[in-house]
Order: sequence, then C-alpha cells, then structure tokens
Amino acid sequence: MSINNPVSLANGNTIPNVGFGTFQTPPDETKTAVAEAIKAGYRHIDTAAIYGNEVGVGEAVRESGVGRGEFFITTKVWNTERGFEKTLAAAEGSLEKLGLDYVDLLLVHWPANYLQFGAEAKALNADTWRAFEHLYEQGRAKAIGVSNFMAHHLEALEETAKVRPMVNQIEVHPGWYQANAIKWCQDHDIVVEAWSPLGQQAVLAHPVLQEIADRHGKETAQVSLRWALQHGLIPLPKSVTPARIRSNTELFDFVLSVEEIQAIDKLENIGGPCLRPDDVLF
Ligand code: A2P
Repeated sequence: MSINNPVSLANGNTIPNVGFGTFQTPPDETKTAVAEAIKAGYRHIDTAAIYGNEVGVGEAVRESGVGRGEFFITTKVWNTERGFEKTLAAAEGSLEKLGLDYVDLLLVHWPANYLQFGAEAKALNADTWRAFEHLYEQGRAKAIGVSNFMAHHLEALEETAKVRPMVNQIEVHPGWYQANAIKWCQDHDIVVEAWSPLGQQAVLAHPVLQEIADRHGKETAQVSLRWALQHGLIPLPKSVTPARIRSNTELFDFVLSVEEIQAIDKLENIGGPCLRPDDVLF
C-alpha cells in the first residue's frame, strides 16, 4: 500500500487514495510545493480556480519529467461561474491555466444553496451539472464530481442528472466527521474526498489524537490521515513544508483499531473551518 493505491471510480477510472492539497497555498509558492510533493511520490494533485494557483500546479506537473498519464489532476469550477455556458468557459479557462488538455477530475466547488438562491438553487445546480456532463462527454474531464454537496443536494441533482457524480469532496477531519454525507455517497458509489483533513492544523494538538499517535509512534497528522483512509476516504493534506509533505505520505506502517477510530469519530468542536454548505454566503 502507498499513497497511490488506486481507488475505483464509478466509471472504471482509478484515483490515487491520497492527494496533495493546495487550498491556501500561495500562488508564488505553488510550483515549488507541488514539485516537492511529486518528488515525495504524490501523483494526485488537487487545485481549484479560486485558489489562484493552477498555473503553478501545471508548471510543476509539466516540468516534473513524470508522464501525464501517471498524474491525477483535479480542479474545480468556482461559485461565480455556475450555469451551463459560464461553466464551460470556466473549465476551459482552468485547462488553459494548467496547460493541460484534460483534467482527471472536475468538481463543482459548492452547491448553489437555498440561502442565496432560494427556489432557483436546484435549477442552477442542474444547469451547472449539464455542462459538466458535456465536458465529460468531450473528454475535457475524465471524471466529474461535486464538492461540499450534502445528501439533499445530491438527491436534488439526481432528478435531472444523466451521469451521477463520481466523487464528492467534503470537509472531513477529526471533530467534523460528516457521517451522514459519507454514508449517502458510499451507498451510491460516490468516492468521498476529505478537504482540510488536518482541520487546517487546528485539531492536531488534541489529547485524544496525541495519545493515539504516541501509542503508534506516529504524528497526530498521520493519525488524522489514517483515520480518513480507514473510513474509505481520500484525504487531501496541504503543506508547503517539505518534511510535512513527506511525513503526510507515511501512513501505511500502522493500523488504527476499531476503538481508536470510534474515539476519533466522537470528537466534536475541536477546531477547523466546519463549514455548513447550506449556510455559506459565498
Ligand atoms: P504548512 O503548509 O505551513 O506546512 P489541511 O490540509 O487540513 O488544510 O491543513 C493544512 C495546514 O496544516 C497547513 O497550515 C499546514 O502547514 C499544516 N500541516 C500540514 N501537514 C502537517 C503536519 N504533518 N504536521 C503539522 N502541520 C501540518
């Protein structure tokens, strides 16, 4: 087992079971961080238009000397670009910035929510998704999915979708388990990715995690990532620090017990963004 262990998507493609996150990686540090990640063995890189760092991701990938086919590159369409035509244009813009002919996975970054769009939210998400299906048919995205969709957003999308999302990327870390959304996705053959799997560092000093980490001779970050893996999730840890980029890959020389997993499942309010997609105003 390694971070590139292939996980099957509903369309038969595979995705490496750990990805390198770039949320909050400054654009001018991205090329170096991603190059460091590639050196450490990551082949799955996660970016988004709104991160402003797709150019750096693309440069690191293209200049790595590693073949394009070995990479799994994900980007996301931002909230201002919802709707059929705007989504198509946004995806083309991302491909241009990345300097790639296709992405391995394209995600709708956030669902349009009722708070901002009222009864129009559902139709807007449906229109955005129609563009995703088109991009999938055209081969510009080898797989398509969503991000920050809760079960009810997915149920609404099901009413009009021809292709079911293959992935849902949601915030998951100790203290923010999201068991309901995970279960819905896993019951419907949707692979779940965990964004901010370290709770943006905030959860890493928690004594429950520290005790488990000490027992295994590991770091609390590694315990958090292992917990996600043992739940069948694909964690996307972000770091710009070479030693951490490497240590976040060392997840396969220990196994958490059922009791340890349950102890982490039960943690609540221990930090991290903990965003509720129905409540956000962006
Ligand atoms: P940095 O990028 O300065 O190394 P998340 O993936 O949950 O969004 O968390 C990212 C945050 O966690 C960043 O602040 C990152 O810092 C930090 N981080 C990443 N890996 C580790 C690690 N192994 N130990 C401690 N902090 C880490």
